[in-house]
Amino acid sequence: MEKLVIEGAKQLRGEVRISGAKNAALPLIAASLLAPGIHVLHNVPDLRDTRTILRLLESLGLTWEREGETLKIDGTGLRFSEASYELVKTMRASVLVLGPLLARLGQAKVSLPGGCAIGARPINFHLMGLEQMGVRCDLEHGYVDASIDGRLQGATVYFDVPSVGGTENLLMAASLAKGTTVIKNAAREPEIGNLVDMLNGMGAKIEGRDSERLTIHGVENLTAAESTIIPDRIEAGTYAIAIAAVGGDAVISNCEPAHLPSLVEKLRLTGVKVEVGADSLRIVSDTNTPIQPVNVTTMPYPGYPTDLQAQFMALMACSNGLSVIHETIFENRFMHVAELQRMGADIQVDGRVAMVKGLGEMPLTGAQVMATDLRASSSLVIAALAAKGRTEISRIYHLERGYEDMVGKLTGLGATAWKEKE
Ligand code: EPZ
Repeated sequence: MEKLVIEGAKQLRGEVRISGAKNAALPLIAASLLAPGIHVLHNVPDLRDTRTILRLLESLGLTWEREGETLKIDGTGLRFSEASYELVKTMRASVLVLGPLLARLGQAKVSLPGGCAIGARPINFHLMGLEQMGVRCDLEHGYVDASIDGRLQGATVYFDVPSVGGTENLLMAASLAKGTTVIKNAAREPEIGNLVDMLNGMGAKIEGRDSERLTIHGVENLTAAESTIIPDRIEAGTYAIAIAAVGGDAVISNCEPAHLPSLVEKLRLTGVKVEVGADSLRIVSDTNTPIQPVNVTTMPYPGYPTDLQAQFMALMACSNGLSVIHETIFENRFMHVAELQRMGADIQVDGRVAMVKGLGEMPLTGAQVMATDLRASSSLVIAALAAKGRTEISRIYHLERGYEDMVGKLTGLGATAWKEKE
């Protein structure tokens, strides 16, 4: 395994280019199961998770080739319908093949994803919606064995929680269903809109993009099309918070500022200067100006993203006051707290609420810390960049699931960072 070593307290300057969004690439790659022919996807990030879902599609009979940031996936060869535990356990988003397999083949055997560091991660809403569409789901031996005779039937599905993956699975399933499906209380994340655009480009008839009510008029067949993955708002937010925490003046390019409405406001409240461009953000953080404490409550889009909660906590650890961070989406998303405390952060956790007492003038100190999950890892990177001295972050395979070439991008901003064998 490898560790990431960072010499901290170096201001960040220059420009960092944002890659395509992991959480758009995964559902859009899964959507290529819905139709034969060559699907062309542009701006696809090369990540551990995108490589995992492509291995999963290969195991189902599809072929693909990558030309730089463009992926060509041939959906013609689909002939298997089982997603194995070995693949699903490494990436729970594999459950996104459920809807497309049922729509195309009428059957799917997918390992239950199981929990992960941040929570139990059930898929009951996915299964409830599919059952309302006529699917029979048997849960046994850690797998969901789903099947339907003939086509899925359109239904009206209400989500108790606006589940991102649940919305994506049902969008893909309903595109080929007989009749109309309405998803109420659907998730509104930008990655959903990216999927709606791809499906409509393939011949689907989906209305209500970006709203909490999606109407899908099922069609008999879809055809392969060309799509572009949206920029990764979480990667962009991660670098914006890093520049704010360390100090400096840098531009985050090839991003979509409109996808980060809450983060831009929160960063401004900390006293950091944020200039919003058409496809860029410029962050100016003066180390002589104290970082103001700001409270954050994570919410479904367009609220503050849970995927930027850990990163913001690292920033608040450097602030000059008390901030309250309330995680409402996942039940166990404070795995980064113990590691930040090893670096000197003063944080008290009570259930889903963390109280962060910023260290003000006194900096965090470099330490040996361990990554536990994707976004917790990036929180430790931000703390390491801001800390005095050297930090070594072990188990950085977590980081490589969702951040393309982070060492290259950080050193491009003037940071001193490198990877070593553990
Ligand atoms: C997606 O996960 C993202 N992953 C997550 O990003 C993100 O944190 C999450 O949405 C919330 O925005 C991908 O897009 C690949 P949910 P997903 O279904 O779809 C509960 C990252 O770091 N729930 O919206 O799994 C669930 O337990 C990852 O990139 C049920 O109870 O999230 C959670 O508490 C981490 N039953 C809440 O809803 C269900 O059937 C939101 O989950 C489904 C979800």
